[in-house]
Amino acid sequence: MREEKLGKLLASMTLEEKVGQLVQCNAGQFIENKMDITGPDGEILPAEELNRVIGSVLTFEDAAQARALQDKHLAADPHKIPLLLMLDVIHGLRTTYPIPLAMGCSFDDGLMTECADMARKEAAACGVHVTFNPMVDTARDPRWGRILETNSEEPLINSRMGAAFVRTAQGDDLSRKDNIACCVKHYAGYGAPEGGRDYNTVDMSERQLRESYLPAYKACVDAGARLVMPSFNALNGIPSVANRWLMNQVLRGEWGFSGVVVSDYNAVGELVAHGVAENMKDAVRLAMAAGCDIDMVQNAYYLHLAELVREGTVSEEALDKAVLRVLELKNELGLFENPYHGADEAKEREIYLCPEHREIARRAAEESAVLLKNDGILPFPETLRKVALIGPFAEERHLVGFWSRPGAWKDAVTLPEGLKAMLPALEVITERGCGAEIGDTDISGIERAVAAAREAEAVILALGEPENDSGEGRSRADLCLPGPQMELARRVLAANPRTAVLLFNGRPLALTELDAIAPAVLEMWYPGTEAGSAAARLLFGRANPCGKLSAGFPRSVGQCPLPYNRMNTGRPKPQPDSGVFPFTSSYLDSPNLPLYSFGHGLSYTRFETLDLTLSRETIRPDETLQVTVTVRNAGERAGKEVVQLYLRDRAASVVRPVQQLIDYKKVFLKPGETAEVTFDVTEEQLRFWDYECRYVSEPGAFEISTGYADHPEKTRVFTLTKD
Ligand code: NOJ
Repeated sequence: MREEKLGKLLASMTLEEKVGQLVQCNAGQFIENKMDITGPDGEILPAEELNRVIGSVLTFEDAAQARALQDKHLAADPHKIPLLLMLDVIHGLRTTYPIPLAMGCSFDDGLMTECADMARKEAAACGVHVTFNPMVDTARDPRWGRILETNSEEPLINSRMGAAFVRTAQGDDLSRKDNIACCVKHYAGYGAPEGGRDYNTVDMSERQLRESYLPAYKACVDAGARLVMPSFNALNGIPSVANRWLMNQVLRGEWGFSGVVVSDYNAVGELVAHGVAENMKDAVRLAMAAGCDIDMVQNAYYLHLAELVREGTVSEEALDKAVLRVLELKNELGLFENPYHGADEAKEREIYLCPEHREIARRAAEESAVLLKNDGILPFPETLRKVALIGPFAEERHLVGFWSRPGAWKDAVTLPEGLKAMLPALEVITERGCGAEIGDTDISGIERAVAAAREAEAVILALGEPENDSGEGRSRADLCLPGPQMELARRVLAANPRTAVLLFNGRPLALTELDAIAPAVLEMWYPGTEAGSAAARLLFGRANPCGKLSAGFPRSVGQCPLPYNRMNTGRPKPQPDSGVFPFTSSYLDSPNLPLYSFGHGLSYTRFETLDLTLSRETIRPDETLQVTVTVRNAGERAGKEVVQLYLRDRAASVVRPVQQLIDYKKVFLKPGETAEVTFDVTEEQLRFWDYECRYVSEPGAFEISTGYADHPEKTRVFTLTKD
């Protein structure tokens, strides 16, 4: 539809019809279906009237349902304005790739692009117009269960991967039926809730917000994301959906965002519970004033917005602007010409879980696994004849993680299936040993597990957290392996020291004891559909682990939050990080540093950093510094290494982190091969938010290091001059 026609359409709509465009319901709220909902139920409204005016729907099942929803609506809507259909496609639709935190460990934006491309195609075939992805919240506290949904504790990784997702999913032309629009979330600071409890308050300085939390949302907006979702939490006292500074000043003003803002689930109505609105009507007033266009689920807009406009509390102009933004998005998606967009049942059958998609999912699972520890027992030789596969995850199929589609777990390859398909002659004895639920105490299976461990040549011990223990509303106050799993681990490791631990979990765990007793630990996260195939290939060396931690693993929960890019303080703890140093910033009963630092990850080969050179020792602000890292594969297997570049500003007008990742590149090296990896460092990468919240660089000395967090391998110094 031509742009000017949208204006005419708007002018022909009644007040109630305009409000309807800003109402979003769960498909299950007004049609009969058994779809899962992703939050509390909204108020049930008169289905027929709602169907006539409603603008968008979230959480539906498949292409057939998408078409039926659209048909039903279009038959009732006098203006024939198509519905927008939205869905959480977080790590794949039917072919599930690893959880976002795991994808971050791949340090591979290209791989993210491949996964996004697969997700886009499957989602479009399902009938999705908008996905609530990417989620780019910086998260530094593994107690927060939604850490699994972000790529990293580091905004650089979130920015790059989030932008890669947006560019790929949206393509150049949203009206193409295999492209979908992206909604960036949860704006802003949602990943820093007090105590790690989901939905909790966030209080931080504007400087910290701008430096560590806002950049990834901005990167996605700059990449063209058409929608933004404000977060549930109160930020410095104002819930985001009503936060005029965040929404009007920063998002729309500073960043020039002109797309649609959609509230999170019930977030408008929840302004009452937050205590900033006296009632639901007042909540609508506040959300409209902050430029929230669509009200997801609670129907606060449906019930109160027309009245607010009639009485003049909300201007008709503000309403029209919001409606126009929604109509423009529909128009850009080409829905007026083709309301079904990509919904296609034949296409669903053709591409869901097709071999090409499975291959991408398997590769992604391999590249995001992190070898945390290996005393040399991995990889296992393929000559093994008998292994014991022990633990609560030994035969588990729920390996796809939170925010996978309902039922997607049924398609996942289990460990025994992966092992059998790869090594048909291998005898695999499986024993569960114990459960992994919080509060599980039953240890009656451990004896049988120990017997199996004794009998086998080697043991694969599959431990972790139940799939739904990390995700929305799944915060934990303890980060140890839940249930009696450590007891199982102690007994099995004593019975057979040739035991490799495989972990399936959605957050960094506190693995101090396990690390002390297990010779090998391979973090698989929730790897998705090809879980078992990827694990088998990694265990037996057909794939070489190359993942690096995108968030550090604490020694204990007491260390959290634990950002790798911490400040030095005036009384830093002397190195090495052991012993008690009174009157320094340290613990009496624990080292400061994490058990496994950000960026850590082993390989079956050995990489050496031979050199780090700078193209010059001094740069002016308009000059580029070339940093070259020479890395060699000194081992006997081919493998991939992530070259990480860290910066430290030695002295500035505000305190600066002890290390900051400013770039990364992944290289593949054959045994004996050497590569020179070059990075361009510009003045922009030296900038920070100063005391007055200006984004500036300051002349002076900077350290550039390679290695990983807390473990610099080579360091050089350069100076930024004034001009
Ligand atoms: C609530 C979650 O916070 C958000 O991430 C999600 O997109 C919506 N529900 C819709 O399911």
